[in-house]
Amino acid sequence: MPSSADAGTWRLGDRTVTRLGFGAMRLTGTRPFHAGVPRDRDTSIAVLRRAVELGVDHVDTAAFYFSRTRSANELINAALSPYPGDLTIVTKVGPVRDVHGDWAERPGPDGLRGHVEENLRQLGRDRLDVVNFRTGDDPDVAPYVAALAELVAEGLVGHVGVSAVTLDQLEAARAVTEVVCVQNRFSIDSADDLAVLRRCGELGIAFVPFFTVAGRARQGAPGEEPEAVLEVAAELDATPAQVRLAWTLALGEHVLVIPGTGSVAHLEENVAAAGLRLSAEQMARLSA
Ligand SMILES: NC(=O)c1ccc[n+]([C@@H]2O[C@H](COP(=O)([O-])OP(=O)(O)OC[C@H]3O[C@@H](n4cnc5c(N)ncnc54)[C@H](OP(=O)(O)O)[C@@H]3O)[C@@H](O)[C@H]2O)c1
Repeated sequence: MPSSADAGTWRLGDRTVTRLGFGAMRLTGTRPFHAGVPRDRDTSIAVLRRAVELGVDHVDTAAFYFSRTRSANELINAALSPYPGDLTIVTKVGPVRDVHGDWAERPGPDGLRGHVEENLRQLGRDRLDVVNFRTGDDPDVAPYVAALAELVAEGLVGHVGVSAVTLDQLEAARAVTEVVCVQNRFSIDSADDLAVLRRCGELGIAFVPFFTVAGRARQGAPGEEPEAVLEVAAELDATPAQVRLAWTLALGEHVLVIPGTGSVAHLEENVAAAGLRLSAEQMARLSA
């Protein structure tokens, strides 16, 4: 049976996770937010349970991941609680959607507390393992990260991460508190954030890319694949999604992937990528 452990492990603060995790955003609908058709509830629950069975112990989520009738946090709670002790749930705060699903005004630093509490309620936890501050228009991350650091001191949050940050914002956040991960958009066809990935490696903190599988399609389904991805997939009898994941994992031991899917078959395929190894020549061809 394939296992996410085949990709090895890395740390998120004091937690150890397998390097192939799971992103919960796609559990709520055929497209994120209110754009698609809400997913079948039993299928989404089956995806989460199968993920854990296959060794996934790092699940990425947010209170603002919801469609008309499904909430990622509620699905995680229903599928996985009582939570296994080795399961690390990473949430993010910053963006806000109102009950209609429209993007609402983002809170200032003081408002992050309420969003952390919302995640606690929905997940049914007393403490969130890791909370990422997802940046918006305000380039000054320091006060937001400081607000999360206060919640760490109070015991509501285990560790702080940052998302969608530049190198300067990462350093500004680190000047305020310990940062255990960076979650930025990065994929084989959208790999302009290599400097942040490398800096995380130097610091020994996790770099957690999103849109690894979807790539340039972002919130859509994966589109036409680059020629090199198709070639390597054929050589290895693998799928393009698996090649994308294996390429990303090979960039550094500190790189953790969180592919999102609402399909058990895709989940199993993605977890099997944990054991896929690319040759140096294939890596070079894909990176070019
Ligand atoms: N920090 C941020 O700002 C931010 C932004 C976006 C996302 N995220 C996080 O990152 C996670 C990953 O992003 P994502 O879920 O949008 O993108 P993704 O994992 O790169 O790709 C998901 C898309 O690929 C499809 N897919 C997944 N596995 C597949 C496979 N084996 N074969 C073919 N198609 C496959 C999914 O459709 P199916 O459902 O049909 O499989 C979906 O359309 C999210 O779940 C979320 O937790 C964070």
